[in-house]
Amino acid sequence: MTLTRAASTYPHGRGACYEPAVNGFAIAGGRWRAVPVGEPERAELLGLFQACEEFWRATEGRTPSGVQVDELLHDLPPGRTPADKHVLGLRGPDGGLAGVLDVVRGYPAETSWFIGLLLLAPEVRGHGLGDAVCEGLEAFVRARGGEELRLAVLEQNAGARRFWEQRGFVTVDSVRRTFGNLESVALRMAKPLVP
Ligand SMILES: CC(C)(COP(=O)(O)OP(=O)(O)OC[C@H]1O[C@@H](n2cnc3c(N)ncnc32)[C@H](O)[C@@H]1OP(=O)(O)O)[C@@H](O)C(=O)NCCC(=O)NCCS
Repeated sequence: MTLTRAASTYPHGRGACYEPAVNGFAIAGGRWRAVPVGEPERAELLGLFQACEEFWRATEGRTPSGVQVDELLHDLPPGRTPADKHVLGLRGPDGGLAGVLDVVRGYPAETSWFIGLLLLAPEVRGHGLGDAVCEGLEAFVRARGGEELRLAVLEQNAGARRFWEQRGFVTVDSVRRTFGNLESVALRMAKPLVP
């Protein structure tokens, strides 16, 4: 995952962006939804990240802080702009933030979409929500002309790797990269989307 900090800031005043049908999507028949989140949700995002401390320790060798929230909201792959980036909060029936998804259009190829992060709160894992999010995301991406999903999973995150493989992702290659305080092997995975 070669991500560089965006030169511009994330757009504010996003009231109109909260329409899931336009800028997000329904999950599990609408029981859950993926809706845009940004600077106004910073405290909620930090709370989610703190609940997922073991993930940050395992993948970055550091505890969650505003640094990871900044990276989630603003980091972009080379050549992409904030307009290509969708940071979506996963909200359930009670409205609480139970997870987050970051996906960027047009990387590494024009018709590829790159999943920067999918992270669920520990208490909602293992019940099929991740699977349902992927299903909703695939429809969201296909509807926007995307032909392929891409991501990078760290070698030590064996559970996540199995999860992506079960979703039809295959490993393309691997690279050694430093995330936070930890150098890891990142497995780059891809899944073609059937039109
Ligand atoms: C990875 C993640 C998004 C999967 O979402 P989830 O809702 O827990 O997954 P699901 O319940 O939809 O599981 C789908 C399948 O993946 C498998 N799976 C998911 N997480 C797993 C884990 N940690 N270890 C082993 N298998 C796992 C499940 O066995 C399940 O298979 P099954 O249906 O045959 O039982 C979620 O566990 C998570 O947020 N993990 C921490 C963050 C992370 O690692 N994100 C990925 C970064 S690349």
